[in-house]
Amino acid sequence: MCSLQDNGPKKFAEGQDTYSDFFASLSWERDRVIRGGWVFRLESARDDPTCDLRENCFRLHKTKQLIDEYQNYLSREPDFRPKNKFELGIWEGGSVAFWSECFRPQMHVAVDILQKADTEYFKSYVRSREPAQHVKTYWGVDQADRFRLKQIVESEFNSPLDLVIDDASHTYKATKTSFETLFPMLRPGGIYVIEDWAWVHWKEFVEPPNGRRR
Ligand SMILES: C[S@@+](CC[C@H](N)C(=O)[O-])C[C@H]1O[C@@H](n2cnc3c(N)ncnc32)[C@H](O)[C@@H]1O
Repeated sequence: MCSLQDNGPKKFAEGQDTYSDFFASLSWERDRVIRGGWVFRLESARDDPTCDLRENCFRLHKTKQLIDEYQNYLSREPDFRPKNKFELGIWEGGSVAFWSECFRPQMHVAVDILQKADTEYFKSYVRSREPAQHVKTYWGVDQADRFRLKQIVESEFNSPLDLVIDDASHTYKATKTSFETLFPMLRPGGIYVIEDWAWVHWKEFVEPPNGRRR
């Protein structure tokens, strides 16, 4: 994580005072984490047939350990209040919803290279948001496409980005291109996160136990 001098917005949304309130509100189960009635099914449990929630959930590519690392980091940045958030890597929108709940940004834009569409569960989540908290997805956008990223940021945000989370390709060239494009669009004191950087080298990815490449 890269954090510069903080001079950004400071107030939490009404009803949620601190990051510790948010993390304390999470209800963890073996295969899922629940927040305010929204169910985030953990991808680590995806092969477990007893945990089939069909379409009534998000699928979240995060582990509890990773969320705990965010909690730990944010406990040292209590005044960091991102208003403008940009996310790389949507999949089924699980992390977009999860981070929207955590940070409550005014504008949250996410892109993904896949030519998919928002799931019905994700659409109902977006409809449930307060009108002042916008969530927007762009499908078919490669994180290595400098021009498109810049175009989206310039058209969606009227002030610099506060937070970028890259959980997309995890490959060097594409990640570097996004970083070179988006980091200059971040305000001083903003945070740029590149998640799971070692993912392509993880043993279970290189040699998956069930022979299926993840
Ligand atoms: C591990 S998933 C993470 C999804 C989400 N952040 C989550 O935690 O549930 C990675 C996502 O990045 C997308 N992705 C992979 N390469 C990409 C690229 N070059 N540009 C944009 N998105 C990409 C994939 O299609 C996939 O949806």
